[in-house]
Amino acid sequence: MTSPTPSPSSSPLADKRRLFVTTALPYANGAFHIGHMMEYIQADIWVRLQRMLGHEVHFVCADDAHGAPIMIAAEKAGQTPQQFVAGIAAGRQAYLDGFLIRFDNWHSTDGPENHRLAQDIYRALRKAGLIYARSIEQFYDPVKGMFLPDRYIKGHCPKCDAADQYGDSCEVCGAVYGPTELRQPYSVLSGATPELRSSEHYFFQLSSPRCAEFLRDWTQGNGAHGVPRLQAEMLNKVREWFAVDEHGHGGLADWDISRDAPYFGIEIPDAPGKYFYVWLDAPIGYLASLKNHFDKGQAAAHWHEASRTQQSFDEFIADPAVEQVHFIGKDIVYFHTLFWPAMLHYSGRKTPSQINVHGHVTVGGEKMSKSRGTGISPLRYLELKLDPEWLRYYLAAKLSARVDDLDFGPEDFVARVNSDLIGKYVNIASRASRFIAQHFEGRLDYVGATDPLREAAAALAHDVRAALDGREYARALREIMAHADRINAAFDSAQPWVLAKDPARRAELQDVCSRALAGFWTLSVLLAPVLPATASRVARELFGLERDFLWGDCTELPRRVAPYRHLMQRVDPAALQRLLEPEAAPAAPAAPATSAAAAPRAEAAAPQTIGIDDFARVDLRIARIHDAQAVEGSTKLLRLSLDLGEHDDAGQPRLRNVFSGIASAYDPAALVGKLTVVVANLAPRKMKFGLSEGMVLAASGDDGTPGIFLLSPDTGARPGMRVS
Ligand code: 2FM
Ligand code: ZN
Repeated sequence: MTSPTPSPSSSPLADKRRLFVTTALPYANGAFHIGHMMEYIQADIWVRLQRMLGHEVHFVCADDAHGAPIMIAAEKAGQTPQQFVAGIAAGRQAYLDGFLIRFDNWHSTDGPENHRLAQDIYRALRKAGLIYARSIEQFYDPVKGMFLPDRYIKGHCPKCDAADQYGDSCEVCGAVYGPTELRQPYSVLSGATPELRSSEHYFFQLSSPRCAEFLRDWTQGNGAHGVPRLQAEMLNKVREWFAVDEHGHGGLADWDISRDAPYFGIEIPDAPGKYFYVWLDAPIGYLASLKNHFDKGQAAAHWHEASRTQQSFDEFIADPAVEQVHFIGKDIVYFHTLFWPAMLHYSGRKTPSQINVHGHVTVGGEKMSKSRGTGISPLRYLELKLDPEWLRYYLAAKLSARVDDLDFGPEDFVARVNSDLIGKYVNIASRASRFIAQHFEGRLDYVGATDPLREAAAALAHDVRAALDGREYARALREIMAHADRINAAFDSAQPWVLAKDPARRAELQDVCSRALAGFWTLSVLLAPVLPATASRVARELFGLERDFLWGDCTELPRRVAPYRHLMQRVDPAALQRLLEPEAAPAAPAAPATSAAAAPRAEAAAPQTIGIDDFARVDLRIARIHDAQAVEGSTKLLRLSLDLGEHDDAGQPRLRNVFSGIASAYDPAALVGKLTVVVANLAPRKMKFGLSEGMVLAASGDDGTPGIFLLSPDTGARPGMRVS
């Protein structure tokens, strides 16, 4: 760990590395799901390893703020896109802190750095002769006054005539087509029949021979230290994208990088009314977040050892020694392995060293689906007081460097965590430290210099480091647990409880327990990237270190141990079961929620048959509108104060606060005293304007008919009555 600038052929395990690491930037229109957490945990483990090894790491992310869906969601919420995105951003830290994910910076693609960088990169691409403009025909919504992205157009499938199919593919027969091929098309935003209009779009010439040639080489090449830029599976995929058939079809197509106003995005220079398509500025957001981090002066490690100077963002990002490492999911590989390196290269910038692709998370073998209520809410996990390190360990125990999907199975989770972490790992410390506290006042001592287990530890540390660095986390944890088995076996066969009864065998007892604890120390160092909180407590509380573990500690011998304090609970299968029980509502997002009345059909899940049990889980109640007020700052929402016949602990009537998107249809004063129907067991949602504790039911037209119609019961119904 001496040479500050590794040569390309040197081992990633030897020299000091300079790393710029990112995870994919999540769209700022929803809460995190378990798939996000998996990616962040995968990257965080890798980053923690590099930090423990003494490498320089800058680990950043940001909200992916732009695009039509976010613009539309903001409008629905009665907010500007900026307000909407800020609301989402405000919810991020709870997840990151909760799961011990330590980014150095979290920014937004709508930040000024990204506007500037995206425009600079575009200008450079234009100068390189890779941008051209041409007119294309697209569907336009005459009511909303905007061109419609494919997913906002529906109609009858041109192949099987199924109704309500999206503009790009049919969910019934699987056909793939263009939106203009749909029969009886309609805009999902307004219900209007879209018109074909032409507009000038800007294209990035990915099909140019020089681009294709560059990308062919780049995708097959190595990044730093002779490590391939892409995993073998991904390289195969990319080869398919390059392939041209005997009719000359296939190969790389030019990329439409512009969108017409209204659009929430970054303006294209010298093209009034045109914005960059969100996927152009999104990856540039990696650089923007890093720049923001540097400019805030928080990147203490900007100190460049080789030149003994402080590096600016521009110097750092151009430094050949810096490795740029992206962690992403398999659905966004095209953008990261073709568009992104081409954009960087042809704007005169360095390209990524490694694109680390992972599979998706499935739950009980099924793809997660919000509408079916499957999936796991990370926030609910934390609310149920489940230990975040269990999830980190469990995911790590299933992760490899391959692109396979990862299945979350509850029984598997319980068995893995309880058997490995409690049965094998924590068990060593709780058993051995008891003897040391009782008989030796915390002093550890070893008879003889070494033993077979100590020797095995050095080799183990080497292998685990290589496995973690290569993202073979499952293999690393298998090796660590095999070592824990050996430590437990040696401890058991020495029978310390027998030694403790014989004063003549005191030294032997101390040696046996000390070696078990030294083994525990080593395991803790090796597990620290995965279990940072526990490892920190082991280092500081148990072994009295005044810092967290560094990788080099793994072969040290501890000299003292404090009395054992509980380190980790067993998983209670019942608690885990609660996590998997579908909630009354989708996991409470940080996103602003509105009432059913405000939810347009664009968001409505495809109707599906449900059982009576599913219906019975929805607690519908009669409510009296006690008060109704306009909401300052929102044109859509009314604040309703509802009487559901409930009482608080002191027996006083309790009113519920509910925000409802019915302001366009109702005068608040006219609502007071009316009876309506409320979903009473909907998880409370935090909104910009306050907490919403339920949802009132209302009807709205499915065919673009204007109007919102609040439901009300027949005469005689009383607040609190159940609707079934
Ligand atoms: O697929 C997504 O969620 C995108 N928001 C990922 C963007 S990654 C990067 F390019 F910004
Ligand atoms: Zn079809």
